[in-house]
Amino acid sequence: MTQTNYLIIGSGVAGLTFALKMATRFPEKKITIVTKANAEESNTKYAQGGIAIVTNKIEDSYEKHIQDTLICGDGLCEEAVVRKVITEGPKRLQELINWGAQFDKNAQGNFDLGKEGGHSQSRVVHHKDQTGFEIERAILQQVYLKENITVLDHHFAIDLIAEDNCCLGVQVLNQKDKTIFPCFADYTLLATGGIGNVYGHTTNPIIATGDGIAMANRIHATITEMEFIQFHPTALFHNSNGTQFLISEAVRGFGAYLRTKSGRRFMEDYDERKELASRDIISQSIDFELKKSGDACVYLDCTHLDLEAFIAHFPMIYKHCKSIGIDITKDWIPVVPAQHYLCGGIVVDANGKTSVGRLFACGECSRTGLHGANRLASNSLLEALVYSNAIYDYLSENPDPEVSKTPVYSKIYKDRLPLITNSILSQIKSELQLLMRSHAGIVRNNHDLKKAKKQLKHWLKELLELEQNYQGNTAFYELKNVITIGILIVQHSMLREENRGGFFKIKYLRR
Ligand code: FAD
Ligand code: SIN
Repeated sequence: MTQTNYLIIGSGVAGLTFALKMATRFPEKKITIVTKANAEESNTKYAQGGIAIVTNKIEDSYEKHIQDTLICGDGLCEEAVVRKVITEGPKRLQELINWGAQFDKNAQGNFDLGKEGGHSQSRVVHHKDQTGFEIERAILQQVYLKENITVLDHHFAIDLIAEDNCCLGVQVLNQKDKTIFPCFADYTLLATGGIGNVYGHTTNPIIATGDGIAMANRIHATITEMEFIQFHPTALFHNSNGTQFLISEAVRGFGAYLRTKSGRRFMEDYDERKELASRDIISQSIDFELKKSGDACVYLDCTHLDLEAFIAHFPMIYKHCKSIGIDITKDWIPVVPAQHYLCGGIVVDANGKTSVGRLFACGECSRTGLHGANRLASNSLLEALVYSNAIYDYLSENPDPEVSKTPVYSKIYKDRLPLITNSILSQIKSELQLLMRSHAGIVRNNHDLKKAKKQLKHWLKELLELEQNYQGNTAFYELKNVITIGILIVQHSMLREENRGGFFKIKYLRR
């Protein structure tokens, strides 16, 4: 058993910045980060485009960024949240810089600002095409300097421990020695990131299995808007399953064109912003074009762009394409939409509090009201920074829980029969990913959603039965979570009766 003051589950931008701030403010308190892979492994690490922040107040303004966010969210953003997040951007950026993160500058010494879909101005602060890697590197380095932070890497959070709607900690699986132990805490923060592996075909790394949302769901925390799945329009079309390499939206901001196989710039037919329409519109347009033509992908044409400038801005993308035989000066890059981000999640208030006492959520697993029906590009890192600071501010004023509870509950995870073979788990997982893509993808209908729900519930029942007789492992617990997330997506999709942003449902399925 472990006892800590502040327990953080996840070591992406949300979890790490919160840990760092709390450790600095309260050197006498114990802070524990539980994270299921190497500490740097996270969606954060792969962020390419950058962070949307108004730094050029001559051509840009908070108001323009606010309006772009509201338009992109298609009427479902909470305006007060949007205003708070956007106006705090420069302060949170300065903190990252103070922690050692470096961002590209132009010849005049100002930030070199990228442009992405849905943005009316260039405002994306970045570190080449590896912004997330740079941020994760800088913050993690600071975290390791703090004596009161313990990082438990390769530790998997299985289930939250809760009594009377109050979270007391989490059950943790040490993935190396396979022991399971409770970690009790004054406060717990879920910072567990995204859900990409529910779809399989995703820009997210394999750690993105929606664990935090599924754990919160099991203790009846309020979860909403799970139907708003964001599909990024331009994942490299190279392999058909697993993590897909991203071709950043900033490449379109840099001037690349989207073309069909025959060379048509099809976005001209769908939106006056063409390639710089928001990603919901582009992904839906690509889906429509592919269904019409029967082609497997569309193409991103960079052949007319200045090669030297392209390499300076996008060295990783250039190198990756080259490594698989795509010469961007001559070849178009084959691309398809892939699952990228979840706009909904665990409902939190302005202080990052969930509906469960002593439980906070931050980052991609949370639903703050910023994104509405569709997240504006590069608003995610910003949201995580602003909300981890909001939770820090709140706990600085309220460092100790109002009600002290002695944890009495602790589920016993016995060493029982040998583990169910991983091959059964991976078979269900691949079938589930195909089901979610075909029945809960970019275009949905109630008939398919209903079928998917039935199958997902069947798998969940199967897993719950296995859990009675076998000892769990990471693959087992992740699969249980992925199924739970699938059920939430399908249920919320069935309930939504209007198409908004990234959600598109055909009302009547023709037969
Ligand atoms: P993450 O960074 O995903 O961290 C989650 C952490 O939780 C990980 O450490 C994980 O191991 C841990 N974890 C999960 N479950 C458990 C468990 N059960 N037990 C223990 N630990 C667990 N956003 C932008 O704003 N700008 C961009 O340019 C941008 N580009 C992107 C490019 C790619 C390829 C991807 C995938 C995303 C991009 N995003 C971008 C989105 C953004 O990166 C993420 O939304 C954001 O980084 C999420 O941060 P987080 O801290 O909430 O979660
Ligand atoms: C990208 O670089 O295209 C991703 C940006 C984002 O997800 O915000």
